[in-house]
Amino acid sequence: MTKETDSQNTAASQELGEAFGLFLEASKALEAQQAVLQGQIDRLSQELIVANSRLSSLLNSLPSGIILFENHIVIDFNPAALGMIPELQKDMEWTIPPSWKSMNSIRSGEYLVMMGGEERILQAHEVKSGLRSVLQLQDITSTITSRIEKERSDRLAAMGKMTAGIAHQLRTPLSTALLYSSHLSDASLEESQKQLFAQRLKTQLMNLEKLAGNMLMFIRQRPQKTNSLPVNQILDEACQTVQVLCDERHIQFIQSFNTEGVVVNVEKQSIVAALVAILENALQVTQSGQCIEIHSAHKGGRLEITIDDQGPGIAPDMMETLFEPFSTSRITGTGLGLSIARSAIDSHRGEILVSNREGGGARFTILLPCLTEL
Ligand SMILES: Nc1ncnc2c1ncn2[C@@H]1O[C@H](COP(=O)(O)OP(=O)(O)O)[C@@H](O)[C@H]1O
Ligand SMILES: [Mg+2]
Repeated sequence: MTKETDSQNTAASQELGEAFGLFLEASKALEAQQAVLQGQIDRLSQELIVANSRLSSLLNSLPSGIILFENHIVIDFNPAALGMIPELQKDMEWTIPPSWKSMNSIRSGEYLVMMGGEERILQAHEVKSGLRSVLQLQDITSTITSRIEKERSDRLAAMGKMTAGIAHQLRTPLSTALLYSSHLSDASLEESQKQLFAQRLKTQLMNLEKLAGNMLMFIRQRPQKTNSLPVNQILDEACQTVQVLCDERHIQFIQSFNTEGVVVNVEKQSIVAALVAILENALQVTQSGQCIEIHSAHKGGRLEITIDDQGPGIAPDMMETLFEPFSTSRITGTGLGLSIARSAIDSHRGEILVSNREGGGARFTILLPCLTEL
């Protein structure tokens, strides 16, 4: 061996030594990293175990039934689900059985189910994610029963109120009519007196007929037959009805219509009657020399009619029940005017609003959809 080769060998083994050194360092670093990662994995696994046990205790204590499916096969379920479906087992195929009567009429996903010989209402809600799905079953029997019970008692309360109102409205004209008819059968009565009582009897019976007609109008929900009509024609007809009364009582009736060419699809008579009912109320609170104003405008696809008066405004105790049938503050009132008006406007998918104006007096606003413009 030459001296040169010797020194070459020494250099090579030195390089190798250095390379091993580096490798050792790198593997130590890797080992350290691996240890850190393992630590993290251990911690995460521990956390996962805790989270899992929390989740399962949560699912176990949940009153709703939870079933986990994979491709329609039951993977897991909680005790509540087993309570609802006793035959439930892991790895079985399960779908909502035909014996669960769908209660579609109420809401889809609600079923009438026999559970332990008792009828229960279950609400099923499914969340799908790929092949997996989670079915949540909730016993909503008590919610539904209390909803039905509340609706029933609301209906009974409304019926009671309505009956009391009807009885109140009928009593006076009926008892007056009875009085006149008993006078008529009095043999000692002169012919002219009989004529007078017969006339009065007829008036009372006509009042009763009008009242019955108004009640029917109130319960009639939908417009019978609608026509496309210019708004101004409807407004003119309503205004003409009250113009005479305004003239008689020296009340100024201001009409400003900004609805030239605007057309609505309505049952004319019921809209005219609604406007007249509001205008009649305005007349009742207006003194001679004061004025009533009616405006119309076309705003955002809707027709807006406002009726303002200079009366005392709506009494605070009337505000809440204003549109309810038989709600009246007048001795001779029936309290049907505004309730009929509202049911007419509602049935045309409109709105009727009321407010007391800052300067005094009431403002009624009617909003109606207008479909076309001439
Ligand atoms: N323009 C108004 N100003 C003040 N109060 C009003 C006005 N319009 C209606 N009201 C109140 O609303 C009540 C109900 O009106 P309505 O339904 O037409 O029945 P009625 O006219 O038979 O009383 C009235 O008795 C009155 O108290
Ligand atoms: Mg009225």
